[in-house]
Amino acid sequence: MYASSIPQQIGYNHYKHYVSLFLSNETMLKQQFIDDLSAAKTPDEVEQVRVKYLGRKGLITNYAKNADFGKMTPEEKKNFGIVLNELKTFAAESLQKAIDTVKQSSTGTKNKLLDLSIPGSSSSLGALHPITLVQLEIESIFEGMGFTVLDSPEAETEYGNFESVNIPSDHPARDMQDTFWLQNEMVLRTHTSSNQVRALKRFGAPFRGIFPGRCFRYEAIDPSHENTFFQCEGLMVDKNISVANLIGVMKTLLSEVFHREIKVRLRPGFFPFVEPGFELDINCIFCGGKGCPICGDGWIELIPCGLVHPRVLEFGGVNPQEYSGFAFGLGLTRLAMMRFGVKDIRYFNCGDVRIYEQFNVFI
Ligand code: PHE
Repeated sequence: MYASSIPQQIGYNHYKHYVSLFLSNETMLKQQFIDDLSAAKTPDEVEQVRVKYLGRKGLITNYAKNADFGKMTPEEKKNFGIVLNELKTFAAESLQKAIDTVKQSSTGTKNKLLDLSIPGSSSSLGALHPITLVQLEIESIFEGMGFTVLDSPEAETEYGNFESVNIPSDHPARDMQDTFWLQNEMVLRTHTSSNQVRALKRFGAPFRGIFPGRCFRYEAIDPSHENTFFQCEGLMVDKNISVANLIGVMKTLLSEVFHREIKVRLRPGFFPFVEPGFELDINCIFCGGKGCPICGDGWIELIPCGLVHPRVLEFGGVNPQEYSGFAFGLGLTRLAMMRFGVKDIRYFNCGDVRIYEQFNVFI
């Protein structure tokens, strides 16, 4: 019987049965294996096919066991061995390929084919740190008033951090700013004030600039103290600069930051690099100045400042007879806490993006 004589009206399964009458047992077994394997769509189903054919009682295994070698000539035995080995190798290799294929197509899609209706996975953009947000805002306010924004080193010489701003080694003010010493005798800066002299030496007078940056102090950490925090130093030196200019610039800054007119007051404050020195307080933004648990008496201490000490001008190579100036040290970390209502300073250094993401609406 030839294939051409197979009746046309019979379906594929019948056809398979029909031709099987004329095929060898190995070929039929192989074909059956191929059919079963191509129907397997999951790793489990492929495993079932493996057990069915190559398991201990599998069809291919049994096929070898049940062979009647007694009735075979040596030539037939040899051929049987070759055919059987080919069949086993074919089955093992096909199973391995099938496993790889179904594993690939089932990864992430639970054994389903590619599903184009599943929403795509977006990658997270991260978030700007709340202190960075406040810093960017401050920078743009000062740029609007003609100030330059300058970067500065976090490790300073002892001279830079202390002596250049009029804090000699035996001065008690050093104790207020205990810090971390590096092995090369430099210090992690305790404030950004060393930039006053650095800037005057480099740019001379007149000068207007701010220096935002990270500072360090040897502090016991609690909800309102950190060993690592941010300040923004400001310096303006020109002819006839007075406290009136200082107050004017500070009020402009604060009303821009808090989006309303802010009342300020100056109290005397001591810093060796300013004379006179002040603590600038703002009228409490939480209670409007009536007094509350946050401010106590209606005022919040916010910006230490003052007129640049004549010695600091001299250290910077500027003649104090000709020029005067003001300086301030805005606590950026503190401002960020007030601006965003963060009650514990330690959140800022914890590195948890879930905290930072909440503030990006302010960009
Ligand atoms: N450097 C001072 C501090 O960190 C703050 C300050 C800056 C005070 C400028 C006056 C003028 O405490």
